[in-house]
Amino acid sequence: MGVRHLADQPAQSSALQPAALPGDSGGLFISFEGIDGAGKSTHITALADAFRQAGRAVTLTREPGGTALAEKLRQVVLNDAMDPLTESLLIFAARRDHVVNVIAPALARGDVLLCDRFTDASFAYQGGGRGFDLAVLSTLEAWVQACDDDAELPTQKLLQPHLTIWFDLPPEEAALRLADARMPDKFEAQPLAFFRRVAAGYAARLQREPHRFARIDASQAPDAVGRDIRQVLLARGWL
Ligand code: TYD
Repeated sequence: MGVRHLADQPAQSSALQPAALPGDSGGLFISFEGIDGAGKSTHITALADAFRQAGRAVTLTREPGGTALAEKLRQVVLNDAMDPLTESLLIFAARRDHVVNVIAPALARGDVLLCDRFTDASFAYQGGGRGFDLAVLSTLEAWVQACDDDAELPTQKLLQPHLTIWFDLPPEEAALRLADARMPDKFEAQPLAFFRRVAAGYAARLQREPHRFARIDASQAPDAVGRDIRQVLLARGWL
């Protein structure tokens, strides 16, 4: 299954595989989500190490970002003021470059692709936090993540993570953690009410696709969070 290209140019040879277990030829796409301060980073690194130890090739990446172009767009999105449509267009432009040049090729190679945030963040931050039109976000998602019609599994029309690990943390607690952090970026500087809406945005995504999400209680001690994440992967037979 390849990324569908909207222009005339032929589709790339890279394939996006349907949900596949590590060990099959298909890759495994796992995204990590949560409000700022939820503490994703160390756990993503630890999981990458665990997969490598299990003999898997790992691609570790993030959004917005993951390619030279997308990282430039990240700087703009995280630092410059703009209206929510502009913000959404830039984020999805970065995502498109990332999907075509990093995500699709990595999955075609059979890698485990660990992505720090993906489209759920757009629904949570732009949709929930900013109150931007969810229907427009869905349209952008459909354009950017469309898969070929000649896919072996025609039911899978959109590239989506096989699993999304949601670090669920009360916004009040995240605010306390962020208070000691480095200089906040544009999003981190938002008020508590913004993060309440972001958290509600994530909860709504989980409700729509409960099978794709694993909710982790991120208010626990880091060891317990790591243990819960490992448990989710063991239960699926992926580690
Ligand atoms: P992140 O990399 O988690 O931040 P940091 O490096 O500071 O830990 O995420 C960057 C920010 O971008 C985060 O505040 C959420 C925001 N974001 C969106 O608003 N929409 C999106 O679609 C994505 C992917 C991120």
